[in-house]
Amino acid sequence: MGLLWVLGNLTLSNVTWVDEATATSQQLAYINDAGNAIIKVDNTTTVANGSMRNSIRITTQDLYDYGSIWVMDAVHLPYGCSVWPAFWAKGPLWPNDGEIDIVEGINLMNQNQMALHTLGECVHQTPPDQKSPSGNLNCSTGTGCTVRESSPNSFGAGFAAAGGGVWATQFDISGIYIWFWSRPDVPSSFSVGNTSIDISQWGPPSASYPVTSQCNLTQFFTSQQLVIDIALCGDWAGVPSIYSSSCKGTCYLSNVVGPGSPTYDDAYFEIKYVRTYTVSAGLPIPPIRHLGQCGDDAHAGYCRPGHEVVRRRREPPRGHHRASSLAALVWALWWW
Ligand SMILES: *[C@@H]1O[C@H](CO)[C@@H](O)[C@H](O)[C@H]1NC(C)=O
Ligand SMILES: *[C@@H]1O[C@H](CO)[C@@H](O)[C@H](O)[C@H]1NC(C)=O
Ligand SMILES: *[C@@H]1O[C@H](CO)[C@@H](O)[C@H](O)[C@H]1NC(C)=O
Ligand SMILES: *[C@@H]1O[C@H](CO)[C@@H](O)[C@H](O)[C@H]1NC(C)=O
Ligand SMILES: *[C@@H]1O[C@H](CO)[C@@H](O)[C@H](O)[C@H]1NC(C)=O
Repeated sequence: MGLLWVLGNLTLSNVTWVDEATATSQQLAYINDAGNAIIKVDNTTTVANGSMRNSIRITTQDLYDYGSIWVMDAVHLPYGCSVWPAFWAKGPLWPNDGEIDIVEGINLMNQNQMALHTLGECVHQTPPDQKSPSGNLNCSTGTGCTVRESSPNSFGAGFAAAGGGVWATQFDISGIYIWFWSRPDVPSSFSVGNTSIDISQWGPPSASYPVTSQCNLTQFFTSQQLVIDIALCGDWAGVPSIYSSSCKGTCYLSNVVGPGSPTYDDAYFEIKYVRTYTVSAGLPIPPIRHLGQCGDDAHAGYCRPGHEVVRRRREPPRGHHRASSLAALVWALWWW
């Protein structure tokens, strides 16, 4: 399947997002000996004061509609001073079509931060069974409506030391739900080769954004593309007051400028797979619930649907993900 390689710079950060040919020749995107996809910041080049460092941003050409679940299994996430990775989703027109931040963190953070961003008025009403605490509740502010992961080892060195973990995001007309499991807790239903997942085994999500009278989510989210990128500095990691809370010097001069190693030796994703699942054809699509119906719900506007078994739409071609080409990287990343 196709990926879009974003060139240039969209987040005011100190990177040049390179094209596929450059990423391949500079070994910024490849399949390692374990068969996992590596996506990384350049750590082999000395960058001059005033220049940018090469990094990657890739986006699916496919759009995933309501009724889909996206799963990422990673063993390492990029981290370190100035490093700002994200695994997120957006509609074709950003920011108008909504943004879902599934994995995002900066600098030496050790907890993942999830968020929704909406162009119009949407306030997160945290349901009682959300596992992690909500932060900012107004989804149309610059920060978005955030939830900080409370399970340990969801970001940074701790994530890698625990063997990584799995995120699952349900994009549903009843709401948007994100689960996280550190490696020891990953449900066995995610085992290799299993073509279906049963969300009734998962327990409450880490972040739960139900449609409520305060937020008609379907108004703000079109079908979504998945994005993986690594920014450096920029308008979160590089804000001086935020940067200096855990890192020394200044974001750009103390990191981006100069030799890439050892500063960026941990600035890489190592991903086993990103799989997308869709509600299996035989199952009824849950009815669209509008604000009135959600408000009528006994549980304070909380209207998640029943549990559904979803099935992977298509098998990936066998063996492809162990080869070392960019096409193989794409297959390793996006099985759908
Ligand atoms: C980097 O360049 C800026 C702008 O030209 C200059 O102000 C600064 O002193 C330079 N810093 C270093 C460490 O070379
Ligand atoms: C949410 O934030 C937006 C943008 O700053 C603002 O216009 C709106 O009034 C806020 N809504 C609430 C309920 O605070
Ligand atoms: C496959 O997934 C289903 C649904 O979650 C589960 O019941 C089953 O045990 C899994 N099979 C394996 C081999 O893990
Ligand atoms: C919620 O949003 C959907 C999609 O834009 C729209 O069709 C529906 O009328 C909205 N419901 C309410 C109560 O505003
Ligand atoms: C760049 O980082 C990788 C680990 O991500 C490391 O194996 C490699 O030695 C580093 N490159 C250089 C030139 O140090």
